[in-house]
Amino acid sequence: MPSELRIGDIVAGFRIDSLIGQGAVGSVYLAEDVQSGSAAAVKLLGDELAGDERFRQRFLRESELAASLDHPHVVATLAAGEAADGRLYLAMEYIDGSDLRELLRREGALEPSRAIDLVGQVGEALDAAHAAGLVHRDVKPGNVLVAERVEGEHAYICDFGLARHVSSVSSLTGDRGFVGTIDYVPPEQIAGGEVDGRADVYSLGCVLFECLTGSRPYERESELSVVFAHLNEPPPRLSDFRPELPQAFDDVFATALAKAPEERYATCGDLVAAARAALRGEAPAQRAGSRRRRAAVVGAAALVVSAAAIGGVLATRDGGPPRRVGISQSAIAGATLGRTEAAYKKLYGPGWRSDILTVPGFRALIFASRRQSVYFDPDTGRSIIVTTWNPDHRTTAGVGPCSSLEELKSAYGSALKPSRWNTQEGQVYAYTVGPNLLFAFNGRPPNPSKRVTTVALYDGNGPTDDGRGVDARNGTLPFAGYIALSESVCS
Ligand SMILES: Nc1ncnc2c1ncn2[C@@H]1O[C@H](COP(=O)(O)OP(=O)(O)O)[C@@H](O)[C@H]1O
Ligand SMILES: [Mg+2]
Repeated sequence: MPSELRIGDIVAGFRIDSLIGQGAVGSVYLAEDVQSGSAAAVKLLGDELAGDERFRQRFLRESELAASLDHPHVVATLAAGEAADGRLYLAMEYIDGSDLRELLRREGALEPSRAIDLVGQVGEALDAAHAAGLVHRDVKPGNVLVAERVEGEHAYICDFGLARHVSSVSSLTGDRGFVGTIDYVPPEQIAGGEVDGRADVYSLGCVLFECLTGSRPYERESELSVVFAHLNEPPPRLSDFRPELPQAFDDVFATALAKAPEERYATCGDLVAAARAALRGEAPAQRAGSRRRRAAVVGAAALVVSAAAIGGVLATRDGGPPRRVGISQSAIAGATLGRTEAAYKKLYGPGWRSDILTVPGFRALIFASRRQSVYFDPDTGRSIIVTTWNPDHRTTAGVGPCSSLEELKSAYGSALKPSRWNTQEGQVYAYTVGPNLLFAFNGRPPNPSKRVTTVALYDGNGPTDDGRGVDARNGTLPFAGYIALSESVCS
């Protein structure tokens, strides 16, 4: 069996033009319907799938079901079946545009109204599918296609039910029981149980989160820790990433990404309506059965307020309420690691200057009025460290620049660890918390500062201690300590 198609080959009445893209389960080609001459996208599944009889039957049966979905925001299925060489194919309407994953890669976080609009269109399609008894099970940016139309952007969802077929083929999924990305998958699906439309609500919530922040809800170092986070960790708060957006969004994501399906929005439409209300600055509507979740949210807020009371340093803006924002293991004020200079300029707007550090020669982008900097790896052009010395920025434990060592200790206990690479003659000039955060206490030796001078987010790539001092190429932890000691407002 040929494993790749050639230009001009005809599959089930479609003439293959060119390869559009490759996914986890096969390749997608731009093709032409030989009879009508109209464009089509033909997805050809891998050989191993056609070889699995159970998969084959389910695929053929359920493609028919998916084909019955006629909705303006669902990519229409034109045909599905086996090609002459025995391989399975799915022919779809060709969408001339780009998928949402590509769009986010290109543009970073989207304007909130645009994000909600795109996600809202997909939500309409999903709700219609749920009403027809179909669950998508693989809602992710890569399965949302976006086309420019005169009336604006038009979003389509594709690959209905494919994940379900695929997850039944153990030769493909191995021990994982899953093909593709785990970033958007709800707990009950990870657990392998029955799922209903609320699984898609969860995934769509993850997609909305990524559209608003440019980051997936649980960005972790390993796939296993992403799985753990879906199962156990509280949903992320949008305010940690986009502090300038209404805080009501926190509640929207707490509900959309609730672990238990019955605590989520019942429909995608409800999720999108809540997001629209949050954007207008309205408090989210009460949901039956959400008392426990609410209590948890209030508890977290109380914790932050008390930490602020101890510190007495939370700045207020325009006399408004204290801001509690910004610092997490994956972002500082919305800035995640691994992006290009352009991405940060876009995120924060004008007001930057760039600098070349003489030692050790890395580029930096400094947002002086925001009291933040970003440092780039000269080889990849991507950021490896983000720092803040802005006292408005706080971790969820309520500490940040200008906090005292005592406050850090009471916030983190034994999780607060002296950074060996920033310890000189027994004096500790920086501490780490978790794999990505460093709290610097700049000061002229032999006296470290009494308060946090700068917080640095680094890429968790710690060094081995060769005893020869700072070398960023050995890992970003000593480098983070080094540069964090050069920026401060508190001393
Ligand atoms: N109907 C379609 N029209 C245009 N492009 C498509 C269509 N279906 C899929 N694609 C593109 O083909 C690529 C591969 O798709 P796929 O095999 O489903 O992988 P994945 O969903 O894992 O990204 C995607 O990047 C998508 O943009
Ligand atoms: Mg796909």
